[in-house]
Amino acid sequence: MSDKATIEINGKKYDFPILVGTENEQAIDISKLRAITGGVTTIDPGFKNTGSCESGITFLDGEKGILRYRGYSIEELANKADFLEVAFLLIFGELPTKEELDQFHEDIKENSIVDDDIRKILDAFPKAAHPMGILSSLTSALTAFNPSNDQINNIDYERSKKALYDNIVKVLGKIPVLVTWTYRKKHGLPLEYGDNSLGYVENILKMMFKKPNKDYEENPVIVKALNKLLILHADHEQNCSTSTVRIVGSSHAGLFASISSGISALWGPLHGGANQAVLEMLEAIKADGGDTKKYMAKAKDKSDPFRLMGFGHRVYKNFDPRAKIIKVTADEVLNDLGVEDPILDIAKDLEKEALSDPYFVDRRLYPNVDFYSGIIYRAMGIPVDMFTVMFALGRLPGWIGQWREMRLKKEPIGRPRQIYTGPNHRTFKSVMD
Ligand code: CMC
Repeated sequence: MSDKATIEINGKKYDFPILVGTENEQAIDISKLRAITGGVTTIDPGFKNTGSCESGITFLDGEKGILRYRGYSIEELANKADFLEVAFLLIFGELPTKEELDQFHEDIKENSIVDDDIRKILDAFPKAAHPMGILSSLTSALTAFNPSNDQINNIDYERSKKALYDNIVKVLGKIPVLVTWTYRKKHGLPLEYGDNSLGYVENILKMMFKKPNKDYEENPVIVKALNKLLILHADHEQNCSTSTVRIVGSSHAGLFASISSGISALWGPLHGGANQAVLEMLEAIKADGGDTKKYMAKAKDKSDPFRLMGFGHRVYKNFDPRAKIIKVTADEVLNDLGVEDPILDIAKDLEKEALSDPYFVDRRLYPNVDFYSGIIYRAMGIPVDMFTVMFALGRLPGWIGQWREMRLKKEPIGRPRQIYTGPNHRTFKSVMD
């Protein structure tokens, strides 16, 4: 294998080193391109072929449908691990010992209290506000109430490491409270802090669903399913929201501010917002008589803006391993809960048709993680506009781990280049003249 790439520009040759990752991925290191060529840059809209960093957190091979967190396969983690174990793994690099996990959970619980003034901010949102907008705003507002310094500071490294750890457990402690409060406020329920004797996932469900003056009964099917969904969402290397978190953090903005921007990036229907869009699409197809062929034709018609939501992925060009796990889980959960949801049949019909349709086969468009997740969330009793919020909750460890890695490696500020295509120099003339 060659260890350099040669690029010829205007008859002159330039050599660039090739970096090789632990899974033999190769990248041409063009960081010196501009300097040695006297101003030539690269262009890659949507960063379809641009590596922004070297990272030791998540490996995915889109051709083979492989996803691993810190070397552990997603299948194994989804079936055997606890979400908090996975969070620790993603953030700190290794699985925790029992003592480390217990301490981590204790620290998260201790840091889960949210300042009372946050309730006032929550109260000020109109009832129709989207939960993702609320969550992003409240996460940003946390900065005002937790002004600790989480900068990685060379001068007092131990102190800044401690401040960073404190902010990590605060994010994992407080954001579930904000998520569940957002849900409760929308549904006219009094705000709850939940129960510190419970596991992390169990507590999220109790905070969300506990009815006033009624005992709360835990449903192990729902706990298991949510644990699995959160693990499947936990990280996905340099996707839109994670790149956002890293790039915001690269300016040395704090962890809360960076996560808040990640939540906003996740909101869009092409990214995490697809789970809401999928369910709305399936409902619309059902309301329109369940004619999946009509919607397949719309998705293929280039003059129609309709896309089959939950299909296609920037990186997976064979299958999304998370979608495989989720499809089985959707069947299990609906079965165990005794829920009959006609939109599951519509989803399965669409999938079957797409998998044998040349348009989808040629473009290698397969169901992604969001195709079936909404059906599970709905069976759990979670409303459609909260689906992406649940995704955000699962993605927290990934965002934190990537942010921490970026700061510990002292990565430079993110600042892409461009090719300017606007007007050339012209002279200003005011309308006031
Ligand atoms: N329905 C119909 N056509 C599609 C779809 C779709 N869902 N997705 C892609 N295509 C077509 C697209 O029109 C293009 O066709 P052509 O080559 O003829 O112009 C071709 O497939 C390539 O698509 P692209 O938009 O260039 O691919 P991309 O890598 O830029 O976009 C995507 C990836 C996920 C944004 C896109 O597939 C999409 O919009 N899917 C629907 C939204 C969705 O489910 N998003 C969730 C992604 S997984 C969750 C997460 O974010 O982690």
